[in-house]
Amino acid sequence: MCGIVGYIGHKKAQAILIEGLKRLEYRGYDSAGIALLENEGIAVTRAIGRIMNLEAILPTEGSKATLGIAHTRWATHGAPCERNAHPHCDQSGRIALVHNGIIENYRTLKTFLERQGITFVSDTDTEVLARLIGQCYRGNLEQAVRDALHDVQGTYGIAVISADEPDCLVAARKGSPLIIGVGDGEYIIGSDAAAIVEHTAQAVYLSDGEMATLTRDGFRTTTLDAIPVTKDVHAVEFSLEEIELGEHEHFMAKEIFEQPQSLANTLRGRLDVREGQIVLGGIAEHARTLARAKRIIFTAQGTAWHAGLVGEYLFEDIAKLPAETEYASEFRYRNPLIDDGTVIIAISQSGETADTLAAVREAKLKGALALGVVNSVGSTIARETDAGIYLHCGPEIGVASTKAFTSQLAVLAMMAIQLGRRRFLSQQFAERLVDALTRIPDQVSEVLEQSDTIRSVVETLVDRENWLFLGRGYNYPVAMEGALKLKEISYIHAEGMPAAEMKHGPIALINQGMPVVFIAPHGPQYDKVLGNIEEVRSRGGRVLAVATKGDTEIVRLAEHVLYVPDVPEPLQPLLTVIPLQLIAYHAAVLRDCNVDKPRNLAKSVTVE
Ligand code: G6P
Repeated sequence: MCGIVGYIGHKKAQAILIEGLKRLEYRGYDSAGIALLENEGIAVTRAIGRIMNLEAILPTEGSKATLGIAHTRWATHGAPCERNAHPHCDQSGRIALVHNGIIENYRTLKTFLERQGITFVSDTDTEVLARLIGQCYRGNLEQAVRDALHDVQGTYGIAVISADEPDCLVAARKGSPLIIGVGDGEYIIGSDAAAIVEHTAQAVYLSDGEMATLTRDGFRTTTLDAIPVTKDVHAVEFSLEEIELGEHEHFMAKEIFEQPQSLANTLRGRLDVREGQIVLGGIAEHARTLARAKRIIFTAQGTAWHAGLVGEYLFEDIAKLPAETEYASEFRYRNPLIDDGTVIIAISQSGETADTLAAVREAKLKGALALGVVNSVGSTIARETDAGIYLHCGPEIGVASTKAFTSQLAVLAMMAIQLGRRRFLSQQFAERLVDALTRIPDQVSEVLEQSDTIRSVVETLVDRENWLFLGRGYNYPVAMEGALKLKEISYIHAEGMPAAEMKHGPIALINQGMPVVFIAPHGPQYDKVLGNIEEVRSRGGRVLAVATKGDTEIVRLAEHVLYVPDVPEPLQPLLTVIPLQLIAYHAAVLRDCNVDKPRNLAKSVTVE
């Protein structure tokens, strides 16, 4: 979603801000803009589309400004156009603001301001806030921001500068993340760490309801009510290398091929093969409560929701604990019934998804223990849950989630085994699962070797506009994830569902040449899946199967077979999803789609 970068220091701000915006491109955006404090006042430049369009209209000799703010916008209020892009200014044009989030009461505020003679040039809620700050300004920017925010309802991460205070940058947050990178005589703020890592590895994470006032000599943090807050400076966990493409053409490819390593990182130090034990320090304190829980609710959105569906199978199968998975957006509003025995587990790559965060808050309010399975260290969900387990899979830049998904599966499998051992799981079976987990990274490498084969298969199918993905048991959520990947980045319409569900409607769609992907490794429901394949074939569908290495039977039925090594059923999704990620990736490349920046999508959905 929208991205914020701000700079105050002694270097030229323009290049730093533009570079920062490029690092945030992956979040998704439709326009971009920059405000620089020049001698004559604030110069705002905005452009629709890519950041290079903005660069193209900035003065080529560059600006000498050493203070500025910049933004990538993902339209919420008002169409994506130059006029609506950020930064927005107050009526005098001497204060500029960038904003992530939504000002919910902007209509009321706008009417109030209009009555005072204030006029507006955009359709945005952000401009209302900029104008309001201008109205509150009496020579002290920090105070003006504070006064204005008191009247605001909604969510925001903001950065503000004033032409009358050339040594001041004010930032504030409520609901939208902001990080302050601490340099030597300079500060760079960003809506995520990717914007700052090139300059510093030291960062301060602002919490909800906090403000920061930065000058070239230092910064102070307060609550919105001006109470001083002391913040720790943290080391940012990831390096520049991790957010650069390296030898890969796309971040998605990099992240797909990184999975042997990212999974090894997720598993590292957490598996005790000899004892069949799992060590999860992050939730150690709550292991007893978890083992006595009566019900687990996984809550998430998107790909993380699919991981939750697999978690449901893992927890019921291995830990014998009732589990359900809920879209956070539904859970938060349906007044969920939560009792003492309920534990909520929020799954989120970014740790910033607005609905998932709200679901955590709702569950906590009703007394549930809330745990997080999160990738982004220090993110809001990581901080607001009672405890949690980090994925440690490294930053994920590609909008379509891949390596975070497999790491989520690995964490959920570890949780289920650990919990199972405290309940009904035998040591023998636990040992088998833990041992199998240790082999997963190498087995993922083996599956990845089929990438070229997958590309040739996809070449023969890529012109088809409708695909089905079918699986049973543990592989039903994998089918859904395969369909989501394909539609997200190649814009091919795809549906994923339990294989048996096909007969209740979707079978009507199957016609000559329609690609149907079956996730059909060996397992208790294998024969039933073969039956479903026959049904598709007899209607002219073109069957692609993901099957267990050495399966000769399925070759008779499927046109193409992609193989995965044999693993215990609960761990199959870790391998069966890999060919599906590659199908989506190759389809998008073959169709000339922008793999890392798919249209209309955002990496992190921080508004409802
Ligand atoms: C967006 C992203 C998806 C992601 C979902 C949940 O839709 O495009 O890739 O799965 O949000 O994000 P989270 O950061 O909470 O896992």
